[in-house]
Amino acid sequence: MTHPHSATAIAPANIAFIKYWGMQDVARTLPYNGSISMNLDACLTTTTVTFDPDLAEDELMLRLYAGPAAASAPPQRAAGRALERVSAQLGRLRALAGVGWHARVESTNNFPSDAGIASSAAAFAALTLAGVAALGLELDERELSLWTRRSGSGSACRSIPNGYAEWRVPDGPFDTAIWDAESYAVSLAPPDHWALADVVAVVDAGVKKIGSAENHQLAATSAYFPARLAELPNRLAATRDAIARRDLELLGATMEADAVSMHAVCMTSRPPSFYWNSGTMTVIHAVREWRVAGLYSYFTIDAGSNVHVICAAFDRAELERRLAALPGVQFVLGNGAGMGARVVEISSP
Ligand code: DP6
Repeated sequence: MTHPHSATAIAPANIAFIKYWGMQDVARTLPYNGSISMNLDACLTTTTVTFDPDLAEDELMLRLYAGPAAASAPPQRAAGRALERVSAQLGRLRALAGVGWHARVESTNNFPSDAGIASSAAAFAALTLAGVAALGLELDERELSLWTRRSGSGSACRSIPNGYAEWRVPDGPFDTAIWDAESYAVSLAPPDHWALADVVAVVDAGVKKIGSAENHQLAATSAYFPARLAELPNRLAATRDAIARRDLELLGATMEADAVSMHAVCMTSRPPSFYWNSGTMTVIHAVREWRVAGLYSYFTIDAGSNVHVICAAFDRAELERRLAALPGVQFVLGNGAGMGARVVEISSP
């Protein structure tokens, strides 16, 4: 390489039906359990990575979401933890390619960051894919998912494959080397297998106070964590089955139980975390009432207060209307099931 090498990738956020919660190995981002998610077709990060021999250090420019009606905000130069995490991931890819150049990273989100809408999943999947492409590395989907997982934002590995994805962990006892080589995400079904929608009821568009990275390490301090892990094999099997058979009732019941179990672990960790606010509870109660009255929708909540409401695509417009009218809901973001991450441009001289 003698001239700047650049590539652009787009990656989706994903919503976990079965949550990744708790890390067994922080350096390699290894979870305790497998997790299952759906890629979101309207919550996307677009990232351009340019490796340039003239750069003295890595640079990160972020164009953050400025509200549903706002034109895209001007890019802002990022420093601190965000730049460190990006630079660490670029370092892994540089080592893999045997290249020493620094890079300029420009990243644009079309949805709020850090509010429990998996912005870091979209960000690290797009960063990894663009970085790999700019370096001219040829990795298959398994390797792309593995390297994305190692970024520290584990759930990002599920944004690589298409549609409905499972981040697997090997059978048997934990072994760092085996798990590091074999823990990655695969597609369970393409997006058009099942026309589901995820309507995100945004009850707080601000930055969440606690990053997941720290809280993953607290999960095992909860007395309920072993109980959660014991439930997971059945929940994972039920979720795979629900996706294969397009069974919304089974998916919904399993998914709600898993979200509540994850948050129970959070609330009973030492120190505890309470992600839900009053708007979160308003949405949970409304969804449960609507369901009894025949609108089949189910809630799930990541590490934030916003509620993801899953329904059949044909109920999406009605659900968007109802959720937007609830007190405490600032706005809604409707999504269908989406593609995985993809490279959209490579420019190498
Ligand atoms: C609750 O460490 O992957 O969303 O905090 O966005 O970096 P970031 O995510 P990560 O933890 C995700 C936890 C979760 C559940 C999930 O997506 O599986």
